[in-house]
Parts: sequence; C-alpha cells; structure tokens
Amino acid sequence: MDVTKVVIPAAGLGTRFLPITKSVPKEMLPLLEKPAIQYIVEEALAGSLRNIFFITSRGKESLSDYFDASLQLDLLLHEQQQKSKLAVVQELESIRRQANFAYIRQHEPLGLGHAVLMAQPCIGKEYFGVMLPDDIIMGKDSGIGALIRIARQEKASVIAVQEVPASCISSYGIVGIKKQITPNLCQVSQVVEKPNPEDAPSNLAIVGRYILSSKIFASLEEVGSFAEGELQLTEGIAHMIRNGEKVFAYKIPGMRYDVGTPIGWLKAILGIAMQHPYYAKHMASILAELNTANSLLYNSSKAIEHSL
Ligand code: UTP
Repeated sequence: MDVTKVVIPAAGLGTRFLPITKSVPKEMLPLLEKPAIQYIVEEALAGSLRNIFFITSRGKESLSDYFDASLQLDLLLHEQQQKSKLAVVQELESIRRQANFAYIRQHEPLGLGHAVLMAQPCIGKEYFGVMLPDDIIMGKDSGIGALIRIARQEKASVIAVQEVPASCISSYGIVGIKKQITPNLCQVSQVVEKPNPEDAPSNLAIVGRYILSSKIFASLEEVGSFAEGELQLTEGIAHMIRNGEKVFAYKIPGMRYDVGTPIGWLKAILGIAMQHPYYAKHMASILAELNTANSLLYNSSKAIEHSL
C-alpha cells in the first residue's frame, strides 16, 4: 500500500482565536519562531507524505506565501551572508524541494468532513493521510508515519487516538473497541462525536491524524446528503464502519498539544520551549522572574493594582 498524499484542512474560521483570526490564520500563529503549520508539514515529510493538499479559504493566503520562495529576501540574506538567517531560509527551501504543495479552496465552512471531501478529485482511489493543524504532536518519530505503518500492516484505515480523562470526553470524537489487537492497537466498532462521558464507548479520543481509505468520500457524500449543518469527518468514518470497512485505532505516542485554543497554544509554546536546546536554558529563569510579587502574572492573593 503506497501512501504519498496528505490533506491538511485549514479552512476553518478559527473563532476561538478571535480577534486575531480576523486577519491572521490560526495555522500561522507562531510556536516559538515557526508557525504551527510548519510543524505539521515537517511531520508529514518525516512520514514520507510529499504530496500535500491544503484546504484553505478566503484570508488564508499567508499559508501559501509562507511556503513559497521569497526571492528578494533570499537574495538579500545571501548578499549579507547572515548565516543564522540564511539557515532558516535554507530550511524552508529544503521543505519546498521535498514537498509538492497544492491548495484547494473550500468556499464555505461547511465542516471538517466537507473540507476533506473537497480533496476527492486529487486523491483518486488511494489511501491518504489527513492531518489537522490544531493538533501538534511532538514525538521521537513522525506521528503520521506511525499510522502509515499500521495501515500497511492491517491494509485498512487507521485513526490516531489518545486516552483522555472523563472530564474531557465530551470535547472529542470517541472510538468504541471491537477487538483489541495489541495494547496500543484495536479494531474500531464505532465512532461517536462528543458523547457524554456516561454514554462514551471508551476513553480513547480521536486526535487529528488519520490514514483513510478513499471509500471515505462515498461515505461523506452519502452522509452529507442528509446532513443538517456542518458535515463531520467522524460521521463519514462511522458510515464506512457500518458499511463493513475495517477501521483501526492506534494509541499514538508523543506529546499532543491542542493549538486550536489559546490555552492549548500557550501550553504548546511553554512545552516546546522546555524541550528546546536553546530556549530550555532560559525557561526556569523566565518563569521565576514572572512569578514575583511585582510581576504581572495574575494572582489575586498578591492584590497588585495595575494601571492601564
Ligand atoms: P474546528 O472545529 O477547530 O473549527 O476545525 P475552526 O473553524 O478551525 O475553529 P473554531 O472552532 O472556530 O475556533 C477543525 C479543523 O477542521 C478545519 C479547521 O481548519 C481545523 O483544522 N475545518 C473546519 C475546515 O477546513 N473547514 C471547515 O468547514 C471546518
């Protein structure tokens, strides 16, 4: 089974990040010096997914600009021989050399399932990856690469999952277990979007990485013809399972950050900095400095009054 294509849906409105998302796509928000989307593309390339299809919408042009060559800047940095800055440009050049980027426009935000369906003409009959840029997965190996290995082994679709506490279950798509294959791999009996914890079939939450059979498109089309409101990807996957398609769930290793919310984004920046050879050195002193009686860190017990 050859998997070379990945769909990255990035056409959502990003309302949880308003007002900045009025003019800056949330995928372009920086996690240290790189935008979130670069982590996703690097994970895709590390998993040998070179044909990258972004689903975008109005106002997301900075995504395609970012991965494009910037001749003027490149020329200037080469002329000035600024080595550290040149290295950054060369990193992006290397990404450009390895990847084939294409951009598909979703004209209306009709849901993640609808966004994935937009890629149908580019995918054909192959298995393909889906990576949600809201989920940044930091691990030793490429998260999507691990899913590809399982998909090849089982010759079927695979969804990435992680265990979540009961209090978080209603924020996720949750899988039901049909058959436990290994401690980290199971065959899926059903997927339920955002269940109440007491109705949830497990505590295995879907995180934003998938390897899907192209049969998902027929399922999304069929479910979409009855859908009211947004078309969810989980509805398409549930339909595929009901039609007898095998779907597996794999407990993906690594640290996951949900950068689709401001709190998750903040946690990601701190977490990534703590694992970074340069920034880690500064983190302890930064946090200590912020947490003093005179700091701006909010703590009602300090009762500090701030002038505006
Ligand atoms: P979200 O549910 O997080 O929606 O989408 P959103 O619009 O991005 O963000 P909020 O909720 O308004 O803050 C999950 C993923 O699906 C994509 C998003 O870009 C994100 O990667 N998506 C969602 C689309 O591409 N199109 C859609 O119509 C909806």
